[in-house]
Amino acid sequence: MIPRWEFKPRHHALLAMVKSYRRDLSLACGCMVVAAACEGATAYLIKYAVDEIFIARNEWWLRMIPLAVVAAFFLKSVSTYGQGYLMHRVGRGIIRKLRNRMYDRIQDLPLQFFQEEKTGGLISRLTNDVNIVRHMVSNAVTYSMKEVCTVVVLVFVIFQLDWEMAILAFGVLPFAFFPMIRFGRRIRKLSTRGQEATAEMTAFLHETIAGAKIVKAFGMEAYEKRRFFDRTQRLYRIDMREAKIEEMTSPLMEFIAGVGIAVAIFYGGYRVLNGDLTPGTFTGVITAILSLYRPIKRISKLNNAVQRGLAASDRIFDILERMPEAREAATQLTFDAPPRVITFENVSFCYDPQNGLPVLQDINLEARSGQVIALVGMSGGGKTSLVNLIPRFYDVTGGCIRIDGEDIRQFSLAALRRQIAIVTQEPILFNESLRANIAYGNRQATEAQILQAARTAYAYDFGAALPQGLDTRIGELGSRLSGGERQRICIARALLKNAPILILDEATSALDSEAEILVQKALENLMAGRTTFVIAHRLSTIVHADHIIVLVGGRIVEEGAHDALLARRREYYKLYQMQFGGHSENGPPVSGI
Ligand SMILES: Nc1ncnc2c1ncn2[C@@H]1O[C@H](COP(=O)(O)OP(=O)(O)OP(=O)(O)O)[C@@H](O)[C@H]1O
Ligand SMILES: [Mg+2]
Repeated sequence: MIPRWEFKPRHHALLAMVKSYRRDLSLACGCMVVAAACEGATAYLIKYAVDEIFIARNEWWLRMIPLAVVAAFFLKSVSTYGQGYLMHRVGRGIIRKLRNRMYDRIQDLPLQFFQEEKTGGLISRLTNDVNIVRHMVSNAVTYSMKEVCTVVVLVFVIFQLDWEMAILAFGVLPFAFFPMIRFGRRIRKLSTRGQEATAEMTAFLHETIAGAKIVKAFGMEAYEKRRFFDRTQRLYRIDMREAKIEEMTSPLMEFIAGVGIAVAIFYGGYRVLNGDLTPGTFTGVITAILSLYRPIKRISKLNNAVQRGLAASDRIFDILERMPEAREAATQLTFDAPPRVITFENVSFCYDPQNGLPVLQDINLEARSGQVIALVGMSGGGKTSLVNLIPRFYDVTGGCIRIDGEDIRQFSLAALRRQIAIVTQEPILFNESLRANIAYGNRQATEAQILQAARTAYAYDFGAALPQGLDTRIGELGSRLSGGERQRICIARALLKNAPILILDEATSALDSEAEILVQKALENLMAGRTTFVIAHRLSTIVHADHIIVLVGGRIVEEGAHDALLARRREYYKLYQMQFGGHSENGPPVSGI
């Protein structure tokens, strides 16, 4: 069986993890040896029961054997419990380690990874696949050690009692190996497909449950149900094909073992009749052979569990072996003083450098401390992409971005991001209390600072009016709050971070005028005294900006102050007219100004 396992470095990593539980494993091994020895002793006890009690009619044995039986079973129970408990500690400990390592790596992966991977698929790897690996570890280690121990002891006992019967009984076993190897390979393939199908189903669930509102709004319930049933049907088919092979494994082993037992009974019985063998030895051998039944059945399933586990560990290590975001320069600069000047020098950027078109080209701009730089332009013009380069969510593909003359790639990622507070286009919050969501901006903030941030962002009044005030949980992604309320919490969170650079991707969602005024005021409070990059949709923000940049098709086509740009009557003027001049019906979709 073993030569068929393809060992790769990743499997060694897994093995190293198993080895770190050396102490528990050796204790468990000790328990297994004791349990196996007790199992072996039972065969001897039966031999003496038959030969000494029934045939020799010895009373001393009649008293001793039951006592020995109780002792053997007691010892076996205690050691079985001990090894079971210890093996769970190893198996479950490994699960915890694997999950932690995966989460640790996932959190450090670049943003691009999260856009390529399906959330549900990742969740499935962390839950389902890790469990399969645990199963492999528990089974492989427990059963291989325990059952192999038992088999060795029993085989030894059988050979001791009567080697001729032993050879006849085991002579048939090699015939079972070849089908088992084939089964293992099939199981591995099917298991990989099953895990993929499970991941796909989880991803589908995640998306359609999170998007329940849209499913209902478009009356797509029946459609989604059908799509889900298709997925469960696919998984069912794969599972059943796997089950067929799985369930074939042990009956095959049993049948072959049955043939061995039959031959042994015939030959052994013949010798008892001839007086060459005592009935006790015969019964002892047959008992031992029958005791082999359970361990052999389990060992035969072991290969399947290992194949399945290796397939799952491949999916886990695919994640663990990914390069983390790091890409950090050796210099790892930090900031001694707040940044003063941010410059873009001939920056170009492309999401897919191999075959994609550039999203940004020849971007040159300078933002000085305290300035507000407004980015405007058509939807898809590259505004969000441009600001994403500052905290290095993505790296430039040409040119460079400097802070106070230093390429931002020379700074440590953590130091760079500490300088930046962001309010994204979609408000993203977590299902915690309102207070905890604001405190996300600065875990060390005092209660007074949190309240101050909430007040400045106009998030205090509605927060205080909630059933449990600021301690109210706000639902998944803040779903229990209104759009404007969510935005204000995001603003409070950014305020609390109190970073010198602010990136503001103003939400396009139309708020009613009162909410709009509140959000606007909150934003003004937020921008005060910081270097701000704002993707502006509100006239008031644009008019007050120090510098306006018009981005079209990834290039800066115009820049300057509001009045000067208007006077030029070119791109900016056109955008301005579309948004505020009432010509928007015929124009292209506008998401700037
Ligand atoms: N993660 C991504 N992978 C590949 N292409 C992307 C990605 N994000 C954006 N793009 C593409 O880059 C271009 C610029 O997108 P970007 O989000 O920067 O536009 P925007 O100016 O912010 O638009 P809007 O005003 O609608 O938010 C678009 O053509 C878009 O399709
Ligand atoms: Mg955008």
